[in-house]
Amino acid sequence: MEAEFPQFREKNSPTLKVGGASSKKFADYTHKTRLYSLDNTYSYEELEKWYEKIRAEFPNRKELEVVCELKIDGLAIALTYENSELTVGATRGDGVTGENITANLRTIKTIPKHLNSEGVSLEARGEIYMPKSAFEQLNRRQTESKLKPFANPRNAAAGSLRQQNPEITAQRELAMFTYAGILNNPSIKTHEQTLLYLKDMGFNLNPNFKKCKNIQEAIEYCKYWDKERYNLDYATDGVVIKINELAIQNELGFTSRAPRWATAFKFPPEEMSTTLLDIEINVGRTGAVTPVAVLEPVFISGSTVSRATLHNFDEIKRLDINIGDRVLIKKAAEIIPKVITVMKKGNRDCGAFEPPERCPFCGSRLVPAEGEVNLYCPNTLGCPAQLKGRIEYWASNDCMDIEGLGGSIVAQLVDKGMVKSPADLYTLGVADFLTLDLFAQKSAQNLFNSIQASKNPELSRFINALGIRHVGKEMSEILAKKFGSFEKLKNATEAEILDIEGAGEKIALSVLDFFKNSYNNEVLQKLEANSVVPKEMNREEEKDTFSGLTFVITGTLSKPRDSFEKVIKQHGGKTSSSVSKKTSYVLLGEAPGSKFDKAKELGVKIINEKEFNDLLGEQ
Ligand code: IVH
Repeated sequence: MEAEFPQFREKNSPTLKVGGASSKKFADYTHKTRLYSLDNTYSYEELEKWYEKIRAEFPNRKELEVVCELKIDGLAIALTYENSELTVGATRGDGVTGENITANLRTIKTIPKHLNSEGVSLEARGEIYMPKSAFEQLNRRQTESKLKPFANPRNAAAGSLRQQNPEITAQRELAMFTYAGILNNPSIKTHEQTLLYLKDMGFNLNPNFKKCKNIQEAIEYCKYWDKERYNLDYATDGVVIKINELAIQNELGFTSRAPRWATAFKFPPEEMSTTLLDIEINVGRTGAVTPVAVLEPVFISGSTVSRATLHNFDEIKRLDINIGDRVLIKKAAEIIPKVITVMKKGNRDCGAFEPPERCPFCGSRLVPAEGEVNLYCPNTLGCPAQLKGRIEYWASNDCMDIEGLGGSIVAQLVDKGMVKSPADLYTLGVADFLTLDLFAQKSAQNLFNSIQASKNPELSRFINALGIRHVGKEMSEILAKKFGSFEKLKNATEAEILDIEGAGEKIALSVLDFFKNSYNNEVLQKLEANSVVPKEMNREEEKDTFSGLTFVITGTLSKPRDSFEKVIKQHGGKTSSSVSKKTSYVLLGEAPGSKFDKAKELGVKIINEKEFNDLLGEQ
């Protein structure tokens, strides 16, 4: 998912440690002083509030100076110098422990190996980044050598830093902007002085930092760079605003994760225009059909975007979008890129875009979903686009509970064409499993055994495993209880399903549609032929334990109130929201309201949850 949507990737994502085993590639390094994170602000109002709150703590100061710096979108590192020599360079890691990557960092030209003054010990911190121009060149080389291109400059920088061979790091054009120092130098009183001292020592500063008298000046800085950021040769995703005076920084201190004396103003999401090359149809795990915009690749908010969501077919109509149009796309920090509007219509040679009638993956006629704008592919068990997700769901704990049949094995089985529906699982032998990657004789045998052992599941699990739309675990249990056998559920009428407490038209239609679909039926037959048969269960008799009784529920119980209401109704009782003389029982939970007093006043019987369950159990 990170590869497709790099904007979701956390700075500390384990995937940046390139492969599980490779996290052992570098020695751990425990930082002498923790590397904190930063709190974020997303609007100028928030930024002002942050500043005002600090200012209120220092009433004798009218204004507090701040230093504004660009927030560089790279990787944080810490460099230790002893007696003016670079001794250790380490990644941030989790802020407490990082990895010792000194040999690789030494290859970076903007990192001084010796300081400009003798006998100095300090720690410098900053961001390693890859210039956009270098990133583009590197990706060109990657593509030429048939290697996978990097998603964005940050990933490219991370990959380059984690090389076993420093010579490869040296070939990548990496650079460092230094933004902080731990100096132990009492003559330095401000952050600005720290930066200038670091510069004197030979560190590379980002030239765009600025000391501001107050927050208004800082806001002007943010506004300026929000527009100018596109003209820089490195990626920046905001501005870091730091209180300048170190004495005030010390007084403010840190929260558990970030300094109180600094905040990161995040730039609003970038928007870019590009050409809509095609509209592809995506069929999700649940059969939901969504249109996806295929775009001429554009670099936006730190990664190259070539696909964006169009949400649904109504959205295409609403925006009057068509292939060949120039469109505006937007990528917010946490949002999948989306098409916002048409900037310029194309020649429309291709005619109006029409939603597909059939599923592009299996050819089934698509159906509109009740009350939703989406179309669905009804071929639940047979559509290849839904297959991997379906099989994984089939094997999961609440369904057929097949131990050892996880995502990567399912992917192999589907990709190799060994499984085209859940029924195919039951036709595979140990020898088939041995053809899968990383499969030893023992695990092949185990997987075979657990598949065979799953052949007679409880009815409710089997119903759940089918993945009928709107029929989840709870509804599967209700259906199993109501019908008692799979055969009876298959032949259920709409009226019979509607009769069930909690099952509305949506569920009834979905169940009927499922059993109408010929491919689903083919799979069901194949399952039966392979002896996959759910257990029958005793149908729950319509009990009338509570017939003629009215309950009022008050206070907090162990389960949501409506689940008690359902039970009462299922047993022939009624519920009411107010206590009267006619109330048979008040079911009392914790912290009850005025209904409790009313019940006492009227002398209505008051029972707790245990007594309620006893009433049910007596029958
Ligand atoms: S100061 C205690 N200044 O942002 C304050 N951080 O979200 C620590 N970053 O891990 C950070 N540019 O990697 C600071 N000019 C800058 C920065 C900057 C980028 C990164 C840094 C940090 C992350 C926090």
